[in-house]
Amino acid sequence: MIGIFDSGVGGLSVWRELITLMPGEDYVYVSDSGNCPYGPKSADFIIERASAITEFLIKRGAEIIVVACNTATAGAIAYLRAHYSISFVGMEPALKPAALCSKSGVVGVLATKGTFKGKLYLDTLARFANEVQVISQVGEGLVESVEKGILEGLQVETLLHHCMDPMLEAGADHIVLGCTHYPFLMESMRKIAGDKVVLVNPAPAVARQAQKVLSQIRPINNNHIGNIEFYSTGDVKVLQLLARKINDSIPLSDFQNIII
Ligand code: DGL
Repeated sequence: MIGIFDSGVGGLSVWRELITLMPGEDYVYVSDSGNCPYGPKSADFIIERASAITEFLIKRGAEIIVVACNTATAGAIAYLRAHYSISFVGMEPALKPAALCSKSGVVGVLATKGTFKGKLYLDTLARFANEVQVISQVGEGLVESVEKGILEGLQVETLLHHCMDPMLEAGADHIVLGCTHYPFLMESMRKIAGDKVVLVNPAPAVARQAQKVLSQIRPINNNHIGNIEFYSTGDVKVLQLLARKINDSIPLSDFQNIII
């Protein structure tokens, strides 16, 4: 079984890629919506939450855990790897492919405060800062909007203009979605960025990495349609809405509220 967690519903953008690649696997998804957003929270708080959720997923039978949250990856994955023997797959700031493919030499990165403070991002930034101009912007309000199920409309577009306009005005031709909630805003982002700007979603690469890690433990399961259980520490409504947008055959009874 593959365990997945995020501060909220955003990790569903990673689960979508996982089920595309490995439809025969079983999944347990934990949305920590009761504590969302992680972005402005301390590293200690994120480590505490990530550890509690990891223990829950291990008890449910997880063989690997996908940390489908850039902020939790930045704040807690090193701790998790040091304290639990299970394999963890984290989110990568997809700055590298964006920097390598950029023709304008300007790349935008949208993420949370916590992700920008993380060593992983700072190291990647230092590596590519000589080759491209990187404009890092906190996506203020975007996670909260997705958590409410608001994916389009004037309010979302105003928030997006605020964080995307400086990148577009500077000539960015790639914008990295450095938070797993943001792919749910892709259509609204596309309206603002137009067709020529590449919106980089790291989720497919993370799913491929999870497949690689799992296949080192045992063969990938292709024989049946996998099961999925969803848990939320907050309201399950938006989790249901977005998960069923991805796969409308999931019964409502697969979603449970939980205290972790
Ligand atoms: N999905 C989380 C991420 O990728 C959202 C962060 C938050 O909760 O602030 O960073």
